[in-house]
Amino acid sequence: MSSRDSSIAKPQGCTLDETTRVEYLQAMGIQPWYSRHESDDLTETHAQVAEPVVAEVSESAEVLKIEPDLLPGKIDISTCDWPTLEQQVSHCQLCELHQTRTQTVFDVGNRNADLMLIGEAPGEEEDIKGDPFVGSAGHLLDAMMQAIGLDRQNVYITNVLKCHPPANRKPHTSEIVCCDPYLQQQIKLVQPKLILALGRVAAHHLLLTQDKLGSLRQKQYTYNGIPLYVSYHPAYLLRKPIEKRKSWQDLLEVRRFLNNN
Ligand code: URA
Repeated sequence: MSSRDSSIAKPQGCTLDETTRVEYLQAMGIQPWYSRHESDDLTETHAQVAEPVVAEVSESAEVLKIEPDLLPGKIDISTCDWPTLEQQVSHCQLCELHQTRTQTVFDVGNRNADLMLIGEAPGEEEDIKGDPFVGSAGHLLDAMMQAIGLDRQNVYITNVLKCHPPANRKPHTSEIVCCDPYLQQQIKLVQPKLILALGRVAAHHLLLTQDKLGSLRQKQYTYNGIPLYVSYHPAYLLRKPIEKRKSWQDLLEVRRFLNNN
């Protein structure tokens, strides 16, 4: 059992390498620093809070006709209700992905669901349609849910990133960090009984680890007190159908958990 600590100190059991951890801290506007005292252990990184990351949005606000109080960076995302949160996301310009997206992709499904599925980022089709998991990976995800008696009406689905990364490239750490308050607030509002992290990007971000996905599955973690499992991303299963057997074991674990809780 391991858990994510949302504080900036290295969480117990955190297996992020130092470069990635420093990237995370910097993207959050937090500067890592090291003690000057020679006698101190220089291998331990401390952190202090620097200026918060505030989007430079003043010009575009006029174009987008956003209420000034709702500008990204001017509002505390952790206090947003659903309509405000969704609006914040739709106007977000915190990272460069806003320049290339067609639209933001916020969520689909039931906002009171017991099970919350978290994928990586919208693909091309999701970028066009505005809903998560509507392409081929989405069809497989639907089938996976149906196999354990669930569908889009009774699960909640979102992604770590709310914008499509061009050419389906992997999300950058800075983009993940910019989007994280939105995801955290979605989790807080849904309060699912169980989170299922689909694929490496979601698992690594939520668990602050870089361990191989295969070694993360079939274990129960907690994310801010909410039980969390890890399984393969449906897009990966489309490329490697042989892994569907393991994915099925993970889904059975999810079903068992939901039956018992
Ligand atoms: N892959 C994801 O991770 N999310 C989507 O919404 C679609 C494909």
